[in-house]
Amino acid sequence: MHVISVVVWFGGLIFINAVFIPIVEHQEATKLQVVLGTQKRFLPFIWSCFWSLLMTGILLMLLSPKFLWFEYSTLWSKLLAIKQVALLLLAFFSWQTVQVFSKMEQAVGNDSDEFEGWRLGLKKLIRRSIFWGIVALMCGAGMAVS
Ligand code: HEM
Repeated sequence: MHVISVVVWFGGLIFINAVFIPIVEHQEATKLQVVLGTQKRFLPFIWSCFWSLLMTGILLMLLSPKFLWFEYSTLWSKLLAIKQVALLLLAFFSWQTVQVFSKMEQAVGNDSDEFEGWRLGLKKLIRRSIFWGIVALMCGAGMAVS
């Protein structure tokens, strides 16, 4: 369940960033309702993956013989700490993503560059989340072998 949450969350963000957005930009279709609807439909998946990752992570942590409270001398516990910080950052970026997306929806009807400004902000947030997701994934892999 822990790994499935990682695959759905970051697999979805990588698809949106590397496949969906480039096609939409090439077709100049960034303001179409179906495009905004597709991105909006993925937002609840981010939160369900966040909560299942946190809950399964805490369970895995408490069930692991390697885990000691407030002890960070081993590589395993250091990697775990990095992952916990990464998940906190990802929660903040995901909250920002929801705020920026609603600003985009409000600005879609305007002729100004406001919509484009928020859209580029959303792209930055998606890439930042992908980066920290990969960092946490590497830490998870490191924990599995340490
Ligand atoms: C974005 C955040 C996270 C990602 C990408 C992630 C990813 C992973 C991956 C890929 C594994 C290896 C699974 C395996 O061995 O097959 C793992 C294991 C684990 N994760 Fe996470 N995780 C994240 C957040 C967390 C959090 C927040 C916690 C604790 C609160 C946590 C606790 C654990 C534990 C205890 C293990 C088992 C490590 C071991 O094999 O000894 N993870 N995680």
